[in-house]
Amino acid sequence: MHTDIKKVLVSHQQIVERAQELANEIQEDYKDKKPPILVALLKGSVPFLAEIIKWIEMDVELDFMDVSSYEGTESVGDVRILKDLDRSIKEDNVLLVEDIVDTGKTLEQVSKLLYNKGAADVKIVTLLDKPSRRIVDVKADFIGFEIPNEFVVGFGLDYIEKYRNLPYVGVLKDEVYL
Ligand code: IMP
Repeated sequence: MHTDIKKVLVSHQQIVERAQELANEIQEDYKDKKPPILVALLKGSVPFLAEIIKWIEMDVELDFMDVSSYEGTESVGDVRILKDLDRSIKEDNVLLVEDIVDTGKTLEQVSKLLYNKGAADVKIVTLLDKPSRRIVDVKADFIGFEIPNEFVVGFGLDYIEKYRNLPYVGVLKDEVYL
């Protein structure tokens, strides 16, 4: 275990097993529909995306978006687009891939944006969900793990861009924040 980690909340083995279950749930959900375009939000969702796509047996396509909190121009609602989609999603089913749903603001805004771009349907798959922190009414359709109100790192999640490479989700020691 990394020396900055106080405890592991979700182990690598749990993530691997849950990812396979989620892929099955996703496949079942889309079985009579057009396969979705997976839109992953950079950078935190990349390890989780890699973990689930290998179990999905439909002809899905991938695209990426990078957004940040509102800081000025080029904003759509409360988010600023740092990298937009490469392709059109008009009439397509979109499955947004996210690392964690916290307040829900990011996904609320990004979902709106995707519908504005003409998506037929937008669903959400997230590795982690912190329902106690929600301030807008956003619900993920497929959830890996519900976690308590703790700041977590690992498996894509960072603290000041560090710890994304950890193979598990954990909580940092208090002294790391000092
Ligand atoms: P929301 O818009 O508040 O739902 O925020 C979602 C984003 O905040 C996630 O994509 C993460 O980048 C970041 N975030 C929220 N909670 C955590 C956490 O516990 N650890 C690391 N990043 C987090």
